[in-house]
Amino acid sequence: MAVDNGAYRNEDNDTYWVDHSEAGTIGIIRFEDLTSSPLFDLRLAESARGHGYGVHALNEATRHVFSTMPTVHRFEGTTREDNIAMRKTFLAAGWVKEAHYREGWPVSEGFALDSVGYAVLRSDWEAGVTTPVRWDDLP
Ligand SMILES: CC(C)(COP(=O)(O)OP(=O)(O)OC[C@H]1O[C@@H](n2cnc3c(N)ncnc32)[C@H](O)[C@@H]1OP(=O)(O)O)[C@@H](O)C(=O)NCCC(=O)NCCS
Repeated sequence: MAVDNGAYRNEDNDTYWVDHSEAGTIGIIRFEDLTSSPLFDLRLAESARGHGYGVHALNEATRHVFSTMPTVHRFEGTTREDNIAMRKTFLAAGWVKEAHYREGWPVSEGFALDSVGYAVLRSDWEAGVTTPVRWDDLP
């Protein structure tokens, strides 16, 4: 069972309820790969979606990672191409799209969809800036 295996809380994983000062508990966030390059899975309750809470939760998750894990210099997240709400949430929080894996997200029926990767750097977070990827880096 995932709980027994430490998928929610062990050296590498950690999980928190997402609490809103007025709306109460509105979701859950699970951090993974905390000992290497952390990433996360954020899930708001259906009733809490569509209110713009996602960007606040992501900002708070970013603050948590960078302020409690001094050796972590980047924080990552991946979502499916058709998860427009999450993709817009990443951008609204100042994260940068770093990867677009075509057909990288298997679906149980039909063709695989694309997987899209975003990240935020500690240096950007500390400076309050968003640095784009240098795509044209080949001499
Ligand atoms: C993804 C999630 C965290 C986003 O948080 P949220 O607070 O519900 O986000 P919002 O509904 O406010 O949407 C964010 C933006 O996407 C837009 N959006 C949402 N659904 C959209 C759609 N189907 N088409 C176009 N735009 C859409 C919103 O209009 C908003 O745009 P704006 O910032 O320009 O106003 C939340 O919806 C959620 O928990 N979903 C289920 C779990 C999930 O998919 N988690 C991601 C895995 S990492």
